[in-house]
Amino acid sequence: MLALVTGATSGIGHAFAVELAARGWDLLLVARPSSRLDALRAAFPEAVVVPADLSDPSSLASVASLAASSPVDLLVNAAGLTLNTVFTRSPLSRELYLLSVNVTAVLALCHAVLPSMVSRGSGSIINVSSITGFASTLPGSTYPASKAWVTHFSTSLALWARPHGVSVMALCPGYTQTAFHASAGVDVGRVSPSVWLSPAYVARVALRDLSRDAVVCVPGWRYKLAAAFMRHSPRWLLHHVSRLVQPPHGT
Ligand SMILES: NC(=O)c1ccc[n+]([C@@H]2O[C@H](COP(=O)([O-])OP(=O)(O)OC[C@H]3O[C@@H](n4cnc5c(N)ncnc54)[C@H](OP(=O)(O)O)[C@@H]3O)[C@@H](O)[C@H]2O)c1
Repeated sequence: MLALVTGATSGIGHAFAVELAARGWDLLLVARPSSRLDALRAAFPEAVVVPADLSDPSSLASVASLAASSPVDLLVNAAGLTLNTVFTRSPLSRELYLLSVNVTAVLALCHAVLPSMVSRGSGSIINVSSITGFASTLPGSTYPASKAWVTHFSTSLALWARPHGVSVMALCPGYTQTAFHASAGVDVGRVSPSVWLSPAYVARVALRDLSRDAVVCVPGWRYKLAAAFMRHSPRWLLHHVSRLVQPPHGT
C-alpha cells in the first residue's frame, strides 16, 4: 500500500508519515528542499522523498504527474500555512502564496490521483482543513476561507467518489502542537494549554475516522462541540463572537 503525504517534514503531515510507516505503508513524501527534508530522509530511509515547493507551478505539475503515474492508495494533503497579517496590510503575493499551497496544490493532487483510484475502485484522500473553515472566524484573515474551500471541496468529491469505491475526507483539527503558528509568527501564548491536540492524536483519529467512511473528521470532543456551534448557530451570534475573539490569526 502506497501513501503520498505532503507537509511530511513537520507537524500533522509528519505524524501521518510516522503512523503510516508503523502500519507498514510505503511512503512517497513531498517536502521543500531544506535541512528539514534531509532530516525527513534520515527518519524514513525506506521512503521515496520528492523535493518540491508546492507553491511553484512547475514543481506542483511534476509532483502531480508523479502522483498520477504511481499506484497511490492514500493521498494526505497536509502541507499548509497561515499568515499573521490583516488582509489590507498583507502583500498580495503572500495572499496568493497561501492560496497556492492551501488550495491549488490540494486541488491539483486530488485531480492527479482520483482517475486511477476510480478506475481501480479503491483509494482514499485526506485533505487537512481546519475547524476555522466552518465559519468566518479570524476577521481580516483569508486563512479560514482557504480551509472552508478545502472542507467543501473534499465533501463534494466524497459524495461523488464513494460509489466508485474511493473515500475522501476533510480533516478539521483545532489547535495542534506543531510549528504552524511559530512559522507564521502567531502568538498563541494566551491559548489555554488544555485545548492543544498532539499531531499524533490528530493523525490516529483521522485514520480511524477514514476507516469508518467519515466525510468530515473533527478530532477531540471540545472541537466537535465548537464545530457544532460554528455550523448550527445563528450567523449574527457567530459574527458577534468572531468580532470579540479577534486574532491571533491562525489555527
Ligand atoms: N497546527 C494547527 O493548530 C492546525 C490547526 C488546524 C489545521 N492545521 C492545518 O494542518 C496542516 C499541517 O500544518 P501543521 O500544523 O502540521 O504545521 P507545520 O508543522 O508548520 O507543517 C506545515 C507543513 O507544510 C509544509 N509546507 C508549507 N509550505 C509549503 C510549500 N510551499 N511547499 C511544500 N510544503 C510546504 C511545511 O514544509 P517545510 O518543512 O518546507 O516548511 C510543513 O511540512 C496545514 O494545512 C494547516 O493549515 C493546523
